[in-house]
Amino acid sequence: MKHFAPGAARSTTTYLPVSSPAARQGPGARAAQCGATLALLLLLALLGPGPAAAQPSPLLPQPAELRWGTGRLALGAPLQLQITAPAAPDPAVRPAALRALGRLPGPGRAPKTAGPVLQIRYGRAGQPARPGPDEERYSLRVTPDGVLIDAPTGLGVLRALATLEQLPRTENGRAYLPEADILDRPRFAWRGLLLDAARHFLPVAVIKRNLDGMAAVKLNVLHWHLCDDQGFRVESKLLPRLQQVGGATGYYTQAQVREVVAYAAARGIRVVPEFDLPGHAGALVASYPRLASNDSVRAVPVRWGVLNIAIDPTRETTYAVLDSLLTEMAGLFPDPYFHVGGDENDGRQWRHNPRIVAFMRDKKMVKAGTADAVDKHQLQTYFNRRVLALLAARGKTMVGWDEILGPDLPPAVAIQSWRGAKGLNEAVRLGHPALLSNGYYLDLLHPAADLYAADPLPAGTPLDAAQQALVLGGEAAMWSEFADSALVDARVWPRAAAVAERLWSPQATAQDVPALYRRLALVSDQLETLGLRHRRAPAQLLQQLAPPGALGPLATLAGMLEPVKDYKRHFQGFVYTTQTPLSRLVDAAPAESDAARQFGAVVDSVLAGLAAPVRPPAAARQRLALRAQLLRWQANDAALQPMLLASPALREYAPLSTRLGALATVLLERLAQLETNRPALPVWQVTARATLADAQLPAGQAELAVVKAARRLAGL
Ligand code: ACM
Repeated sequence: MKHFAPGAARSTTTYLPVSSPAARQGPGARAAQCGATLALLLLLALLGPGPAAAQPSPLLPQPAELRWGTGRLALGAPLQLQITAPAAPDPAVRPAALRALGRLPGPGRAPKTAGPVLQIRYGRAGQPARPGPDEERYSLRVTPDGVLIDAPTGLGVLRALATLEQLPRTENGRAYLPEADILDRPRFAWRGLLLDAARHFLPVAVIKRNLDGMAAVKLNVLHWHLCDDQGFRVESKLLPRLQQVGGATGYYTQAQVREVVAYAAARGIRVVPEFDLPGHAGALVASYPRLASNDSVRAVPVRWGVLNIAIDPTRETTYAVLDSLLTEMAGLFPDPYFHVGGDENDGRQWRHNPRIVAFMRDKKMVKAGTADAVDKHQLQTYFNRRVLALLAARGKTMVGWDEILGPDLPPAVAIQSWRGAKGLNEAVRLGHPALLSNGYYLDLLHPAADLYAADPLPAGTPLDAAQQALVLGGEAAMWSEFADSALVDARVWPRAAAVAERLWSPQATAQDVPALYRRLALVSDQLETLGLRHRRAPAQLLQQLAPPGALGPLATLAGMLEPVKDYKRHFQGFVYTTQTPLSRLVDAAPAESDAARQFGAVVDSVLAGLAAPVRPPAAARQRLALRAQLLRWQANDAALQPMLLASPALREYAPLSTRLGALATVLLERLAQLETNRPALPVWQVTARATLADAQLPAGQAELAVVKAARRLAGL
């Protein structure tokens, strides 16, 4: 938070069966082989979908082009790795291939006989920070004989390996890869995830496991938010009070930063640091009071909110400090982009300082048509130009949030729009490269379907081709006021994967929301095996919270809850500081309740079944399942209610359990009405309306996620 405001070139790859002599002999034999392969593809297309195709795709993001064959590659023996590398190999490729092989299911020990081959060919090392249309392109072909990955760059190989890791299936306990032919490339070159290590410090292990998650879904930029009011998180040798004071609750040593950057690079992920300036400067100012615009900040702030603490842009000493800071940090982060924030400074500290106001008047930083009404935006632009010069001298491209946009901002600055698609469009019209984050704020806790719907270049975009070319992509953003190092994974995953698909897959193929959810469930499994803790951590919190014998019913209730959305947690009479434990039931509740979504799907199919002229045979079964579910909710409340009331930590959630039980009672009545074609009498409607209204009320900063579906069933 912050935040209280509202095609690349088609592949020319030839497909070679992995075991063919042509594959080993190189380009001379390739043309003939190509014809044969095309004929094979044509045949596959004519034959139509085979058995493998009958199963829906597990891949997320969806590849640009995917064709299933009918064969299988059994994973009874480990694949043998063969890499055809250029003279200057990409150091990321072999380790990534070995990791992928280690993650494929199959026998753990190498068998006596050599298994089929995983053959990898690529043309040059990847250049992640200078992406062209070919940079991440790849082809991946699985035949019964082996796997062939072919890519212009090592980065493309990494993306192909991520796809390969999602392909295995199991039948009767035997793992195999389905025959498949994939041509793939990203829609956008910049596909980011912002992790906020300033509000709650996120140890290196947390960052690394999230990098593994990012690589699995082909996100390629970690936007590391390292400095905000509540913390400065990087060791500085030149300005050590930054970590001694600003980082007293946790910071990364420079060695750890290098370790993370290397870990990311090995996964084809860039790291763009953000040092938020001139606002969000509480930790900076507490560390070095000479930066301050007034003397109001005596310590690193511990409250959340937009504090409007800004450094003083009028003094040369400020730029001397920034020169040291940016020199040191620019050297630590090799990526050519460097983010300087720029958001949420309303200029109040500047306006209240007569010396700063005099500076603005002297420099004619006044609102148009006035003699002396100072304009903070002009002062911020002055500041931005000074910072831009410091960064440009160090070879960095500056990135800032959309507040910094204005006619005087040099177009070389890239703009990240968090306030709306309008900011993105304005930025590119003014010639800035731009990124979209509006719509992708994970901490607003909106469902994956909503994240998926946001698009940097939606159908009907008003931008022309040249402007569209300036749209680099987008970033999911996880501000961490309400996510600590234990729970942040659960607020990021699996929803961030929906953003990953939006930014990678062709717009036309990434439209099917039920298919997205089906694949999110698979990715969610995959991510837990990669070490993410989005399921384990909330489950552990539930275990800690549950009185003896209550875990089952408590988990049922928690699964039906979601935390209040948007930034309502700031505004419900609870006072949070950086030290407030995030250990209530609301913190164990999922960002998006799967159980509630599944309930909604059952309700919709029951309603469709009842509305059909001839009731389908499955409809009676669905009604039975729905009835059983509602009876379970009633029983759950009966079992849980006394335990909630007896527990000081859980008592605040007792009303939600009561309301879930009451909702179940009303819905059981409604179901009986529908099944027997009885109308909903007015007196029933009055009670039902009151029950639904009650069910919508939050308690303990959580709310029942089933109310919308309940309204549909109730017809109210
Ligand atoms: C922001 O959310 N203030 C960038």
